[in-house]
Amino acid sequence: MLSLQVYKLAHLLGLFLVFTSLGGLVLHAMNGGDRESNQRRGLVFATHGIGLLLVLVSGFGMLARLGIHGVPGWAAVKLVIWLVIGGLVALPQRVPAASRFVWFLAPALALIAGWLALYKPF
Ligand code: HEM
Repeated sequence: MLSLQVYKLAHLLGLFLVFTSLGGLVLHAMNGGDRESNQRRGLVFATHGIGLLLVLVSGFGMLARLGIHGVPGWAAVKLVIWLVIGGLVALPQRVPAASRFVWFLAPALALIAGWLALYKPF
């Protein structure tokens, strides 16, 4: 098992990858771009997918390192946020009008996820 610090860095790296790709994709859609005109589609979706996987694996790694057994309430809500952020990547291309919404929703969800991890309110 890796150290808590390594898992935490992996968690943050995963988040950076997820939000870098989401930002690029949303901006592309806001500028009227579609699937075909996105010349770096593979890069964007691979970055997003690898980032999501890193966030999930490191999240459970940290739970184990913290001696937390099972999934407490705050971590369960983070799992839901993880799922929503994972799904958001499909929205800008399908519903371009929702791009501005995604632009603000994603960081708001990340803020809630960070708060949940730091305060563990339930
Ligand atoms: C996209 C969704 C997520 C976001 C935005 C997110 C964000 C964060 C942030 C900002 C931190 C604080 C890092 C620090 O202490 O400096 C953190 C820590 C943590 N996250 Fe996540 N996270 C997400 C998903 C998950 C998931 C799915 C799990 C596991 C089920 C998880 C488990 C944890 C744990 C255990 C910590 C460490 C808490 C501690 O050090 O006491 N996270 N997360």
